[in-house]
Amino acid sequence: MDSDVIEKVTKYLFGTWRLQRSWLHPLHIVGGEGAYLIDSEGRRLLDFSSQLVCVNLGYGNKRIIEAVKEQLENIAYVGPGYSLEIRAEAAEALANVLPNRLRKFVFSSSGSEANEDALKIVRSYKYPDYKILSRYWSYHGNTAGAISVTGDPRRGAVELHTRVDGVVRIPDPYCYRCPFGEVDCDECGRMCIEYIDYILSNEPHVAGIFLETVTGTNGVIIPPRDFYPRLRRLADEYGVLLIFDEVMSGWGRTGKWFAFEHWGVVPDILTTAKGATSSYVPIGITAVDTEISSFFEDNFLPVGHTFAYHPLAMAAMKAAIEEYREGGYIVNAARVGDYLGKRLIELMDRHPSIGDVRGLGLFWGVELVRDRDSKEPFHKREDKIKGVELITQKVARKMIDYGVLLSMAWISNFVIAPPLIVNEEDVDLGVEALDKALRIADEELTK
Ligand SMILES: Cc1ncc(COP(=O)(O)O)c(C=O)c1O
Repeated sequence: MDSDVIEKVTKYLFGTWRLQRSWLHPLHIVGGEGAYLIDSEGRRLLDFSSQLVCVNLGYGNKRIIEAVKEQLENIAYVGPGYSLEIRAEAAEALANVLPNRLRKFVFSSSGSEANEDALKIVRSYKYPDYKILSRYWSYHGNTAGAISVTGDPRRGAVELHTRVDGVVRIPDPYCYRCPFGEVDCDECGRMCIEYIDYILSNEPHVAGIFLETVTGTNGVIIPPRDFYPRLRRLADEYGVLLIFDEVMSGWGRTGKWFAFEHWGVVPDILTTAKGATSSYVPIGITAVDTEISSFFEDNFLPVGHTFAYHPLAMAAMKAAIEEYREGGYIVNAARVGDYLGKRLIELMDRHPSIGDVRGLGLFWGVELVRDRDSKEPFHKREDKIKGVELITQKVARKMIDYGVLLSMAWISNFVIAPPLIVNEEDVDLGVEALDKALRIADEELTK
């Protein structure tokens, strides 16, 4: 029965972002409860990265399930042009968790679409300026515009045929691998920001700067304290828009509703998805500053989707917002996140294969290296596209034996991001599994 299901899954469905021959034995999941998934062998597995950093409230959340069921009974779908009670309530609930400036929303069904909509809004508003600055260590989604502003190797795999032009790369504030060779973040000259100033003063027709506030998949990269305040000032000085992609870093993940709150800086456009419904229903959100939204009173808004403001997504989001608020899960993310960070940093003493550990709230990156002094990575970034078996994947596979799922095993790093409902005991289980499985990476160092 089990093998029958797996065989049909891999026979009919494409495995995403991979060579198809490498998707042979996906884990067969039969249920989930809280922060744990249950597989067909009856094992309870701690979900140590909330799947794709999206099931922020864990599995089986009664409030969200009941809200979606109720909405289904009431009305499952009407087009985006109609007024519905759930649309009014959910949109108001969203407005109440965002800064006053972000007051008008377009909804879609994914983070990629949220970014696609943001790009169209930026380019319409700033026309004829159209260029977008974005980073190398980033992921913004798989639609044409979103993959074009993406920096990671998935862009390389498609950009010759699927590309939106006008993207200019800016350096990453990636202190562990500073592109300018700085070693001390406190002492450094902040070329990562100075160079953006240089680009803005030389590059014609720039419309906006597109960033993950905290870079997620590509290594949980957190910029230095003064980075965003200075970037905000630069954007205002040059009259370009600041777009923050919080598809992954939003919804309590970093211990605040949205990551930008850590820096006291508000973007002109915010995109988000995933945790907005804790992934119970697909969703994408593009939230726009009032000055920009008023432009579209008399100018055509070139954005819309059949599933914009889908009643089930609105119901799930409203319930999720109530749950984040009343369950105290964002405060929990900050508190348990500190504990998780402390435990992960301790692992560095025992595992020479760990090069760096960094994070905020329940959003942590563990970067593996072949050599701590030279910071030589185990893999080149293109290895992902070539289908090379990655050391992070080997470690993650081993962790399943110890009862822990770590689905965010990227090229040289893990993204450790359990549901915001976890406690210290869950964290101990996850960190101990990683501790044991990392022997695989340590052994590779001597080869
Ligand atoms: C920061 C960020 N932006 C955009 C996306 C794309 O979202 P989706 O996969 O829902 O299209 C992702 C997905 O992981 C993401 O992490």
